[in-house]
Amino acid sequence: MNNCSQAPLTDATQAAVDAYLGSWARDGMDWDAWMAEVERARQSFAGLINAEVDEVAVTSSVSHAASALASALSFDGSRRRVVASAAEFPTVGHVWLAQESRGAEVGWVPLSDRGTIDTSDYATRIDERTRVVSTCHAYFVNGFKHDITAIARMTHAHGALLFVDAYQTLGTEPIDVKALDVDALAGGTLKYLMASAGIAFLYVRRALAEQLRPTVTGWFGRTHPFAFDAAALDWAPGARRFDSGTPPIINAYIARAGLEIIHEVGPANIASWTRVLSDRLVAGGKDRGLTLYGTPNAADKSPTTAFWVGNDSDTVERRMRARNVIPSARGSVIRLSPHFYSTIEDVDRALDTLAAVLHDGPVSG
Ligand SMILES: Cc1ncc(COP(=O)(O)O)c(C=O)c1O
Repeated sequence: MNNCSQAPLTDATQAAVDAYLGSWARDGMDWDAWMAEVERARQSFAGLINAEVDEVAVTSSVSHAASALASALSFDGSRRRVVASAAEFPTVGHVWLAQESRGAEVGWVPLSDRGTIDTSDYATRIDERTRVVSTCHAYFVNGFKHDITAIARMTHAHGALLFVDAYQTLGTEPIDVKALDVDALAGGTLKYLMASAGIAFLYVRRALAEQLRPTVTGWFGRTHPFAFDAAALDWAPGARRFDSGTPPIINAYIARAGLEIIHEVGPANIASWTRVLSDRLVAGGKDRGLTLYGTPNAADKSPTTAFWVGNDSDTVERRMRARNVIPSARGSVIRLSPHFYSTIEDVDRALDTLAAVLHDGPVSG
């Protein structure tokens, strides 16, 4: 029940690790096969979001992806504002705050008491001084989803760029970067994409990417990395210029295998099943006297449902784990995040276990 944090190991991802280690052991260096696997992972991610393969960069984390994008934007003219969501995962906020030394001015779109954001609060903050609007697709704490299409419209009406961190929704529903009209989108693989840490992807719309010159860069961002020419900064086409050092090869093997599972099951099927599970979690939480933190509407959230548990959510998580249910603690909430393979019985058992742990008495230590 912690897919919002780390999806489980599967036979396919285990086999991918074994394939990489086998090739390394057998051949010492199987460079062409390794690079082909990195390209397959890039291609698979591009297919998942309806991007062209050259619109996707392979990075090591979302932090890295956001930093590379931020490094390519200028904040020294009349457009120096960053409008960021208070629901950002901290790392994205940190990347924008770090741009203040380059002239950026960061402002925040606030969260409501129940952990949601009113889209109209973006409208009052975006203007001709805005360089970039930054928003998560779903809030990591409770799964609340932004209306990306509406935010894109407001952003572009003022000539600004829209960056979306989709880590919490990739693998849970269809995401089409062209239909959503986002300029850049990032996400990693260890959550609903069923893979590991150490790899993430950055989509940048081709026409935009080709105007950008990231200063967070490296030799794999070149057109000809194997020219080994330190004195030539030849920008690779499209978003490939956001690649940097030697790619995370073992993670690309795992990512490709995880992505394949998601393609096979189908994001639309995953969305319709996880919404059934969300409804069950919201209603079942209410029946058991649990306090929901977030929206009760399944269509407005990722598969994550969060319940208030007081200050020591780590202890609640530990006690649930002792009863063989793995939730995910964050601050004052416990997140229950099923996936396509989860059953009604799984979510009922998770709710029963959470309620039992809370009713056992005060949680301390
Ligand atoms: C929405 C979101 N963005 C970013 C991250 C972290 O990104 P990274 O560790 O790849 O920089 C997380 C969680 O780990 C997340 O939930």
